[in-house]
Amino acid sequence: MNLDHIKPDAWKIVEDHYYPDRIEAAESLFSLANGAMGQRANFEEHYSGKSFRGSYLAGVYYPDKTKVGWWKNGYPEYFAKVLNAPNWIGIDVICNKEIVDLNTATVHEFRRELDMQNGLLTRKVTLSTLKGVKLTITSERFLALFQEELGCIRYTVALHDQAAEITLAPYIDAHISNNDSNWDDPFWEHKDQFCKDSFAALHTKTNKSAFDVCTYQSVSFFVDGNKSVAFSCEEKPGRVAFVHTKQLAAGQKVMVVKTGGYCSSLQQPQSNQQNHVYDIAVNALKQGFDELLQSQQKQWDEVWRMADITIEGDVKAQQGIRFNIFHLNQTYTGKNPLLNIGPKGFTGEKYGGSTYWDTEAFCFPFYMATKDESVAKNLLNYRYKHLDKAMENASKLGFSDGAALYPMVTMNGEECHNEWEITFEEIHRNAAIAYAVFAYERYTGKSDYLIERGIDVLVGIARFWAQRVSFSTAKNQYVILGVTGPNEYENNVNNNWYTNYAAKWCLNYTASRLDKIKDENPSEHEAILNRLNIHEEEHTQWKHIANNIYLSFDKNRGVYLQQDGFLDKELKDTSAISRDELPINQHWSWDRILRSPYIKQADVLQGFYFFEDHFTKEQLKKNFDFYEPFTVHESSLSPSIHAVLATTLGRVEQAYKFYLQTSRLDLDDYNAEVGEGLHITSMAGTWLSVVEGFGGMRIKDNAIHFSPKLPDAWDSLSFKINFRGAILQLTVDKETSQVSQISGDPVAVFLNGNLVKPSHKPVFS
Ligand code: BGC
Repeated sequence: MNLDHIKPDAWKIVEDHYYPDRIEAAESLFSLANGAMGQRANFEEHYSGKSFRGSYLAGVYYPDKTKVGWWKNGYPEYFAKVLNAPNWIGIDVICNKEIVDLNTATVHEFRRELDMQNGLLTRKVTLSTLKGVKLTITSERFLALFQEELGCIRYTVALHDQAAEITLAPYIDAHISNNDSNWDDPFWEHKDQFCKDSFAALHTKTNKSAFDVCTYQSVSFFVDGNKSVAFSCEEKPGRVAFVHTKQLAAGQKVMVVKTGGYCSSLQQPQSNQQNHVYDIAVNALKQGFDELLQSQQKQWDEVWRMADITIEGDVKAQQGIRFNIFHLNQTYTGKNPLLNIGPKGFTGEKYGGSTYWDTEAFCFPFYMATKDESVAKNLLNYRYKHLDKAMENASKLGFSDGAALYPMVTMNGEECHNEWEITFEEIHRNAAIAYAVFAYERYTGKSDYLIERGIDVLVGIARFWAQRVSFSTAKNQYVILGVTGPNEYENNVNNNWYTNYAAKWCLNYTASRLDKIKDENPSEHEAILNRLNIHEEEHTQWKHIANNIYLSFDKNRGVYLQQDGFLDKELKDTSAISRDELPINQHWSWDRILRSPYIKQADVLQGFYFFEDHFTKEQLKKNFDFYEPFTVHESSLSPSIHAVLATTLGRVEQAYKFYLQTSRLDLDDYNAEVGEGLHITSMAGTWLSVVEGFGGMRIKDNAIHFSPKLPDAWDSLSFKINFRGAILQLTVDKETSQVSQISGDPVAVFLNGNLVKPSHKPVFS
């Protein structure tokens, strides 16, 4: 880890040296995306050093056959893999017949910048080739937020004090493989290719999943600013390049403007893909790079106007939060209900690009509060559309009669993870999906989604819990056996408190929503009972189970037990682990981890986070003080929840430490793994730690509450929230805090427990 690798800057991610040993890390950190496609920050030109090439397309995956030891009934057939797509950014640079390669050249100067304000990646390198020709490469690249199939590159090579023959050969190439593959299957089939004038396209199809993808490029060359048409098309199967060669005098420049990207069958039928991208490419080139960049800036401006968080007095904290917000906006735009948010977004292959409980448990509030309501609704619809598959999944495991178990990991609604302790046992994810229905209702005050679709999801989930509990005659209560809680460092435990409590809540919530619909809209209620075939006894049984579920509690310590056997463990806190054995998941055997008291991420405390109002502060304090000392935070999702809870307990400086850990996790590469990709879903946790932690935002009783607490290191904090159509801005400095309303209808706002009425001018403090 090189902590100076990334320079502190409020709006930019900056690398001002060439670090050959940090190439893969930088490729992750400088990644670009636009919700439909995304890519690691690979160099355009040939690079023979260690690098992880990756370019990904939203929703396009390969069902890679599961790899396990002994097959067990119920295992998913495949593990979905996000596909490394054909390369559209490539540009070969040949100088006096020698391929330019940073790995073999002498690099004199190097600067790479990700301008988060405008979504623009730039790089400037001055180097001498092996044959001693000195030149400067400048590249600018962005993926258009305003046109999801479009990426743009402006790439210039300038000679210094020597003449040379320079070839620029921008290409597209389908010879690509995944880093992450179970059996080294070929994921792509090359179908066809096309080249005419300055436009080229490759047609490929994914094996098994049969997604058609058209990869394209269109180019214009310039010598010293003058358009040059002296280029040719060179084709090989699966590769098309435009080759422009020119003898340049010392000081001369050659430039290519390249537009390119993809169109997949999720966007257009195969027969129309090439025409579709041809029009986009030709129009884009006509507009030119500068005009396109202006459109990009305008779009990002709109994003930031709503989503920005400003922190004064602490540039590293400011850079951290903007980095997180930037990537969340690149990863998911909410335009397409078929898409979701993978834990690595478009920055790597780990987690297969699939959807996890992370979406509902961590990401949902960010999109709800900083975007139009339709974006959160699309996330809900995603799960609604997978309800039948969740029922199928439950029935594969032996449940029936409409019980739904949502997958832990999915691309299309089917479970596609292959570890039994996760797939079969981490059933708590079902509760997070129900919780998002509740969060949406609480946030918007609207019951339209609940009545039309959400209730179907809730009933499926309630039916699952009602069948998954067992009645213990010894305890005379319902128990839930053989689960994995959010803490994946314990498997097959009984009565994980978080799971039991969440199941209780789901059953109660579903029953209460049905009661509410009955009171407010009896005919709708009748229709729902008929549609879902719900009988009175079933409804009564849900309440009965909820009231009689076992919740393990230790009276001496005043804490809930993470699982039945937790107190039998050797309860030594994390200070007993030698520093060189951290992270334990990279140093200890799995067996040793399972027997240890060490907790990967918030588990009981995740329940305190979700169900805060069900417990007193004293209860929170006892449970926090008991569990946090055993927590190793080896899931990136952990520090943010602890940051929120620590601020609730008034421990702002402790919360600040958790904040830095979450917000700069990737920038400072705390876990020495950023080369694999960024922790996109935990970035939403970072947002929670600022907004719900230091901003103290809560939604209660149809009102929005703020109770800000500023860490010592910050001079001020300010952010905006879109609550029920009103845009509110909280501004906090060392002396005062105020809420102003920027637009929209009046809403009830509480600041530090007092009802205030925001106006267009900030008047409260
Ligand atoms: C965490 C899970 C999470 C997954 C994907 C794991 O390390 O333990 O809770 O869903 O990563 O982010």
